[in-house]
Amino acid sequence: MLDGARRAARAALQAWRRAAGVRHVRQSRPHVTRAALAADLARLGIAPGDTLFVHSSLKSLGYVEGGALAVVHALQDAVGPQGALLLPAYYLPGGTVRAACAMQDYVFDPRRHGTHMGRLPEAFLASAGVRRSIHPTHSVSAWGRHADALTEAHHRAPSIFGVDSPWQRFIGCEQAKVLGLGISMGPVTFYHALEDAMGEAFPVPVWEDKTELLACLDHAGRRWEVPVRPFDPAVAQRRIDHPGRGDLRDYFHREFDAAGLRINGQVGDAASWWIPAQGFYDHLRRLAADNVTIYASAEELAARPIGRA
Ligand SMILES: CC(C)(COP(=O)(O)OP(=O)(O)OC[C@H]1O[C@@H](n2cnc3c(N)ncnc32)[C@H](O)[C@@H]1OP(=O)(O)O)[C@@H](O)C(=O)NCCC(=O)NCCS
Repeated sequence: MLDGARRAARAALQAWRRAAGVRHVRQSRPHVTRAALAADLARLGIAPGDTLFVHSSLKSLGYVEGGALAVVHALQDAVGPQGALLLPAYYLPGGTVRAACAMQDYVFDPRRHGTHMGRLPEAFLASAGVRRSIHPTHSVSAWGRHADALTEAHHRAPSIFGVDSPWQRFIGCEQAKVLGLGISMGPVTFYHALEDAMGEAFPVPVWEDKTELLACLDHAGRRWEVPVRPFDPAVAQRRIDHPGRGDLRDYFHREFDAAGLRINGQVGDAASWWIPAQGFYDHLRRLAADNVTIYASAEELAARPIGRA
């Protein structure tokens, strides 16, 4: 009874906060529409037939008339029916892979569990024609031409980001691009694809030793045991998405600019960018050979000047 009342109070508070947030953005930021966003995406170089892996900040775009769903539609307009979209639909109870592994009785259920990745991923997940991969921590949602192929095998993949994962299949798509809408080079999952592909050869021991099996239900309600290996928390502390690693975000931004791989522009009010997936991957591999990874120390960054061929 008391729990129910607490839950209701929490939901009401969250709804009030959300409404206040929207009001603030509506009053303080330039207004943008689906059509304007689609035109900006085209100007940035997003083309019909592209397959995009999108990381986003909704409020950085300005006040979007029609909310997050209008951004979803603008992305669909930009890539067209021959294109595809992928967005993170990660559900991370406890906030990390390790915390999810430590939870007793956790069973991922795509019908019950949403995503913790922000307002655009939430709206995308709930929108028409979207497929969702089955994974206890790093589920991915996809729309468009390759949606089935990109998502259908994640629960059978031996690692989160490796063979048969959406990332590994995404790299193989023609016109595959990683798109950042109003975000830095920090919250970009694509980096981990190289770590899983290189395994022990990757210069940093990113993972804990033990692989756990986490339970998931698929869309038909069948149960799967999915292998998940937590990140080593000490290593994750020095990663590019950690608030204290502005130096790494800046290095990667300037390095990918210097390599001619990062295309920059404006979408709505947001500084945005894209990088071709294969070029991204190959360059990360070259950087790793020079000991520059998303975990590099200030000394390791200083030892490799930006733009070195
Ligand atoms: C963390 C992160 C999501 C925060 O960005 P954000 O814009 O504050 O959050 P969301 O995208 O969820 O959007 C919610 C915000 O949009 C605002 N908003 C609501 N309706 C809106 C509208 N119609 N137009 C514009 N903004 C709107 C909300 O008020 C809220 O802002 P508030 O928290 O200040 O109230 C972003 O910085 C980020 O890291 N994105 C990448 C996430 C990711 O892909 N992670 C995986 C990689 S490891």
